[in-house]
Amino acid sequence: MLEISGISKRYGGLQAVKDVNLTVAKGEIVSLIGPNGAGKTTLFNLVTGFARPDTGHVRLEGDEVTGLPPEAIARHGMVRSFQITNVFANLPVIENLRLASYLHLRADLTSDVLGLSPAREKAARTMEEARRILALLDLAKFSATPAKRLAYGQLRLLEIAIALCVRPRLLLLDEPAAGLNSREGEHLTALLRRLRDETGLTILLVEHDMDLVMAVSDRVVVLNFGEKIAEGTPAQVKEDPRVVEAYLGTPFEEEPA
Ligand SMILES: Nc1ncnc2c1ncn2[C@@H]1O[C@H](COP(=O)(O)OP(=O)(O)O)[C@@H](O)[C@H]1O
Ligand SMILES: [Mg+2]
Repeated sequence: MLEISGISKRYGGLQAVKDVNLTVAKGEIVSLIGPNGAGKTTLFNLVTGFARPDTGHVRLEGDEVTGLPPEAIARHGMVRSFQITNVFANLPVIENLRLASYLHLRADLTSDVLGLSPAREKAARTMEEARRILALLDLAKFSATPAKRLAYGQLRLLEIAIALCVRPRLLLLDEPAAGLNSREGEHLTALLRRLRDETGLTILLVEHDMDLVMAVSDRVVVLNFGEKIAEGTPAQVKEDPRVVEAYLGTPFEEEPA
């Protein structure tokens, strides 16, 4: 699904990402972890077109997408949760989703060849799609709730729901559990698994919540000072001495420094 090869990025004197290779197979959930400043967000930026790599390639299902702008990369099926239009605070949840879905349909030329797709059909499709996504994320009961009334944890789920309206094949999430309590973190773990199992979605996430990372990931990739220092199953990575050291000797279960 995703193949990142030899990717590097320097900011002035700082090598933020250094010669990273990373692949994600279709249907996999892969987590990217590492101490603060390790280059995780920069790597996401390079892959999703928000920053240009100095060297290296990004291929999505075999297509070279290196250096393309974020919208073009999203059209190729790789979508990052925050790159979508912000949540409209006064609109009900369902309308936020319909809007995102409609904007996507309009941008999708194949579904709109020669403008023959009638507006009514489009409205029905966006409503159906929005309902399906709300149900997937356990947000159906908040359908009519204005977004500004949602609790923080539900708002984070709405961001994921909005990203799903763009119909990604590969979804990138940067710290989706940040600010969630442990119950919400467990709920998110179950939702990510369900998304993968029920829709075949491939997921790459950056996350500090080790309970979530260990529970949800097929594979974990560890960055430190811009370099990949370890990769493997959650159990393998947890035991890796280089990983324990990168987390400054703190027991791996604790919050990384
Ligand atoms: N746009 C930028 N300009 C200059 N330095 C940057 C920029 N983006 C990131 N950095 C630097 O690159 C390093 C990696 O940052 P980042 O990718 O945000 O790490 P992480 O997400 O792992 O915490 C940090 O030292 C950060 O200060
Ligand atoms: Mg970051």
